Amino acid sequence: MKGKHIVVGVTAGIAAYKAVELVSRLYKAGAEVKVVMTRNATKFVSPLVFGEISKHKVAVEMFENVQDWNVEHIAYATWADAYVIAPATANMIAKMAYGIADDMLSTQLLATTAPVFVCPAMNSNMYAHPTVQENLSILRGRGVHVLEPDSGLLACGVEGKGRLPDPQKIMDWVDFHLGKTELLQGKTVIVSAGGTQEAIDPVRYITNRSSGKMGYAVALKAAQAGAKTILVSAPTDLAVPIGVERIIVCSATEMKEAIDSHYDSADAVIMAAAVADYRVAEVANNKIKKQETMILELVKNPDILASLGERKQQQKLIGFAAETQDVIAYGKEKVRKKNLDMLVANDVSKSNAGFDVDTNEVTFIYPGDQIVSLPNMSKLDVAERIIQALADL
Ligand code: C5P
Repeated sequence: MKGKHIVVGVTAGIAAYKAVELVSRLYKAGAEVKVVMTRNATKFVSPLVFGEISKHKVAVEMFENVQDWNVEHIAYATWADAYVIAPATANMIAKMAYGIADDMLSTQLLATTAPVFVCPAMNSNMYAHPTVQENLSILRGRGVHVLEPDSGLLACGVEGKGRLPDPQKIMDWVDFHLGKTELLQGKTVIVSAGGTQEAIDPVRYITNRSSGKMGYAVALKAAQAGAKTILVSAPTDLAVPIGVERIIVCSATEMKEAIDSHYDSADAVIMAAAVADYRVAEVANNKIKKQETMILELVKNPDILASLGERKQQQKLIGFAAETQDVIAYGKEKVRKKNLDMLVANDVSKSNAGFDVDTNEVTFIYPGDQIVSLPNMSKLDVAERIIQALADL
């Protein structure tokens, strides 16, 4: 979002107050934001509020005293890198579908060539009305991005579909589309993420400290690069990344089955999951009673990545290695042993890398011991570099 010019169009839905937070988040993320409101929207939220947080004058009227000699609606329309209409009323959606330009916002929407993002929010019957649905499909057909509203209790007291999604969700969605590339267009990529859970009994399991954040970031970036992305994830609290198909698994055995079933048609597998090396030999059917000492017999899990490496065809394989010592030496050995095209190695003993933090410091290791070390950066930036490296492969 940094440096992007975003026009936020606010129309007269009760959710207009949520647009305040959207503008604030966009501003904090480094975007330059200008707000355009319909006259009715100003009855819900004062333009002063948007003016203060966007640090720009808010446009409402078409025929105000002009302060500079730009034709104002054209000036906005050409300045914008994107238009985000949140909330978008049925009325504004209809105007957009039929080219009605009777106020500042609808006129700008005809004048701009920037991508347009529409976030409908209204009563659930209005949203389901065939007219609204037809108008939305007209807009989709023209390449306008439409974000499905959330379901829940609406301001009118009805349960149903029509809520404006969270400002962060809107922002992530816009960011995803503005950053889209065709680096991996037409490719299928499997990404694994999270720490597997190996059952001891019906209430207990063995796991590890993986949060899944790195794998989820990689899946998001793969989808953003145009790949059909299948995320095979151990249980986490993380939301499904935009544009990604997610399969939730628990144990290493389940993870192997899920990956194997998609492997033949995949072009790449990126194994970011922390797969448990061992599982309990015999899972108890009932909760094990407390005892003074307890001995669990563990047996080795299959090495998923190594088995993929053994039957590799067209697939590119990228592994991860989390170590606390001799990261590079162990990494080189893993590339050979698992028949990888690249390994992402990191030292998880560092406080700003590895488990549960949002940053990572990694080294790419290739066959032939070629090495590329990256500085500390956000996991999203690391993910982008991994996807670029995969495209290069
Ligand atoms: O050998 P090591 O566990 O360090 O290798 C890590 C890499 O291998 C990771 O990419 C991890 O997802 C994968 N792995 C696997 N199956 C296992 C253990 C690790 O696929 N049982």
